[in-house]
Amino acid sequence: MDALQLIGPFKQLLTMEALPLKGALSDSRLWIIEDAGILISDGKVLATGNYDTLKKEYASAKCHELTGAHVCLPGFIDAHTHICFGGSRANDYALRNSGKTYLEIAKAGGGIWDTVTQTRKADKETLIKKTVKLANRNLKTGTTTLEVKSGYGLSIVEEIKILEAIQEANKEVPSDLIPTCLAAHMFPKDYTGTKTEYLQELAQRLLPKLKAKNLANRIDAFIEESAFSPEEIAPYFETAKQLGFDITVHADQFSTGGSKVAVDFGAISADHLEASTDTEIELLSKSNTIATALPGASLGLGCNFAPARKLLDAGATLAIASDHNPGSAPMGDLLTQAAILGAFEKLSNAEVLAGITVRAAAALGLKDRGKISQGHQADFSLFHTDNYQEILYNQGNLKPCMVWKNGNLVYN
Ligand code: NIG
Ligand code: FE
Repeated sequence: MDALQLIGPFKQLLTMEALPLKGALSDSRLWIIEDAGILISDGKVLATGNYDTLKKEYASAKCHELTGAHVCLPGFIDAHTHICFGGSRANDYALRNSGKTYLEIAKAGGGIWDTVTQTRKADKETLIKKTVKLANRNLKTGTTTLEVKSGYGLSIVEEIKILEAIQEANKEVPSDLIPTCLAAHMFPKDYTGTKTEYLQELAQRLLPKLKAKNLANRIDAFIEESAFSPEEIAPYFETAKQLGFDITVHADQFSTGGSKVAVDFGAISADHLEASTDTEIELLSKSNTIATALPGASLGLGCNFAPARKLLDAGATLAIASDHNPGSAPMGDLLTQAAILGAFEKLSNAEVLAGITVRAAAALGLKDRGKISQGHQADFSLFHTDNYQEILYNQGNLKPCMVWKNGNLVYN
């Protein structure tokens, strides 16, 4: 066993243990240890409990003794981002705010296709640097695990370039980057065949390569009028499932249809859901597909939030992710966005914090993080306060003063 480390004391340690995965949560469900410490061995949590008791029990542990009041939370998990891209879409944002819609801008040659053009022009090194920069920016706001999608390449070669850039960036950052292939983000404007042929090509030529090169275990698609219909995507998802990929869906962003596909294919998550109605809420709540709200896309597009309150009340699992991307969600900063979603959708502290920790871990199928619990990764953030409620109350403006990843202090 390597050297033990003891960190504390924390005025409050929120372990996020013993919470149900599904449904509404009151704050009384939060597991809070007062005057707490975390004992770490080999990058993992060995024990949590009263700091002084742990110190006596593990006298050989190297102590990182804190002064002042701190609240400790698990590292945040951002289960949906697109932070590997070239260029900027600041002009799209300006156009939207002067009255053009997201779909109008896309039809006029802006939108996702604009980022595809700029990402194709960027070499792998440039994409790695950009991804590292954005992952590290998110680390400072407490995010220690980020899902990162491809989807701005839209050809076999370019999608692989992006996924390789994500793989390389992952080696250069303290956080863990979980790759997802989003080659079905839209129908590439320069593809000479039909939509069906494009998806067939992805299924036959790209998916086996992803497995062979170990570039991604997750497949995503954008189900929308401007991208792919449920009927078009079905054979692609069928092949992805046969090959053992997890499925996730960009669902119900502007119109419905996507969450039904997600549930039908047993997707791990259905993300967006701004347009979901009671029918989709019912479908999701009766399934094991996690409903992921993306408040950053609502803020970036100036539109309504996903019906988070209704989803929770219906018994769904709600995760909250940033959708950090150059177009619809340029902000990043999951904590701020989750706090704002909580204010608009009337979510408890427990529901918001679970949505960016333990329930977000489930949306990525990760069993080793999201809570501060024996055997889990020692990923956590400290905030300078004596009351955990201050964190969401400050709506993201109370930033972590320290971030730990795998038992290492990676930001302070
Ligand atoms: O999740 N909805 C589709 N895809 C992204 C937007 C990507 C972009 O605009 O570049 C999203 O919002
Ligand atoms: Fe997205």
